[in-house]
Amino acid sequence: MSEAVKLEAIEKSFGSRSALLGADFTLRWGEVHALLGENGAGKSTLMNILSGFYTADAGVLEVGGQGARYANPAAAADAGIGMIHQHFKLVGPLTVIENLRLACARAAGWKNQGAALQAMAELAAQLGFHLNPKWRVDEMEISDRQKLEIMKVLLAGARILIMDEPTAVLTEVEAKAALGLARQLAQSGRAVVLITHKLRDVLGYSDRVTVMRAGRTVIDAADSAGMTAQSLALAMVGEQPVVVAPRASARPQREILRLIRLSAAASAHGVGLREISLDVRGGEILGIAGVGGNGQAELVEALIGIRRATHGKMLINESLAPPGTEARREAGIRCIPADRMGMGLFGELSLGLNLALPRLLGKKPERRWWVRNGWMDGLARAAITEFEVAGAAPQTPARLLSGGNAQKLMLAREFAGHFSILIAHSPTRGLDIRAVHSVQARLRAACARHVAVLLISEDLDEIMELSDRVAVMSRGRLSEAEAIGQVDRGRIGRLMLEMH
Ligand SMILES: Nc1ncnc2c1ncn2[C@@H]1O[C@H](COP(=O)(O)OP(=O)(O)OP(=O)(O)O)[C@@H](O)[C@H]1O
Ligand SMILES: [Mg+2]
Repeated sequence: MSEAVKLEAIEKSFGSRSALLGADFTLRWGEVHALLGENGAGKSTLMNILSGFYTADAGVLEVGGQGARYANPAAAADAGIGMIHQHFKLVGPLTVIENLRLACARAAGWKNQGAALQAMAELAAQLGFHLNPKWRVDEMEISDRQKLEIMKVLLAGARILIMDEPTAVLTEVEAKAALGLARQLAQSGRAVVLITHKLRDVLGYSDRVTVMRAGRTVIDAADSAGMTAQSLALAMVGEQPVVVAPRASARPQREILRLIRLSAAASAHGVGLREISLDVRGGEILGIAGVGGNGQAELVEALIGIRRATHGKMLINESLAPPGTEARREAGIRCIPADRMGMGLFGELSLGLNLALPRLLGKKPERRWWVRNGWMDGLARAAITEFEVAGAAPQTPARLLSGGNAQKLMLAREFAGHFSILIAHSPTRGLDIRAVHSVQARLRAACARHVAVLLISEDLDEIMELSDRVAVMSRGRLSEAEAIGQVDRGRIGRLMLEMH
């Protein structure tokens, strides 16, 4: 197999911060090559250099045996390089089909809307993705946007395909389809880079693996067949991974959160909530499993006071929950949303401001204006240390954080101070192993402080590992919760699909 890409001793700094300190990477035609590393290791930056989003400060870049340097992403695309981005590059106010035509009409040779629609329908069928071409992107759920981002790059016909965490928000079945297609493309002679934190996918779908740590390559194109999940994890962190704290034995506590036959209207392309009943006691984790888009986003919105209930009741400590987000927060609710950049963080604002904003709630309006920079910087410094947010200073805008580090900032904000209810929607999405363990330990620690935790996730493994009781969400309904000891995993899986 000949070389498709060679990157050698690549360096890249952003201001005073070095993201790459001499990274190497080689890619062969016909292979799926996994690129691994902890959050902030430099994976996205290295691939952004290959795909023309950034230029390297130093180092060698060869594509197809020739020296290459792309001035912009269009130049890289012309050379056959396509990247499925971790932070999606989609145009919000446009529809699905408009985005596809904008991004790939020229490369795919579509003459008209009909040709584009047909190509889209064929690929969607192959992948088992259900996307309506007329949907507006900014009204779509994050898992649907991920599907569009994947289709966009595939339809543009890249010969070198870079997938930056393509499956983080997809269900098992969808992820298998996307990775299966990556394999097929490699078998047909193309070259695929797969960035992922899911070691099972690395072992199951890649031929070779490269591991980065702190801007450098520590394992250079090793055969995947010789690796185990443990050896990969060790190479990434450079030390023994953290051991997960065992589940605390559940002590029955007071009921803190209760929904009684709560209904709400659907979001733009979602399903509404249909008479959801649940209760969560202090000190327990109630896991809500389900295929994304079955009302999970609406449930989160209803709980935090963005979406009005059309029927039914929500009780906090046996009193009716007050309306509105501000009042809900003051009533002790904290939330980690699935769409951290869309709903959780202000990308343009500094880390300090992102952390400070919720603390201004409840203060008299005139007091909200007197915020000291020193105080905000202090908050940010504390969060950076405690949550190991890499690659940032207090004044850094949140949008410059790597995927996993943005999630850590979100967690630092929501875990601050006193609260009694925590809603966590896919809280470990995009996190590396060490960070996943630390989030899981934090959820358990919140439990130990008698917080009522609602864990909503598409990752059934995570739900089974953390929850005390499990319920399944489907088409806006919620099944009866069952104690974890009595749950039959196969049946939960079937419930997820049947009701879908
Ligand atoms: N445009 C930018 N400006 C400033 N710093 C940046 C920029 N892009 C990346 N960085 C920094 O470079 C480092 C590497 O980031 P990168 O996004 O490549 O990490 P990653 O390995 O993809 O991590 P993750 O698994 O969290 O996605 C991080 O410290 C990040 O904060
Ligand atoms: Mg990244």
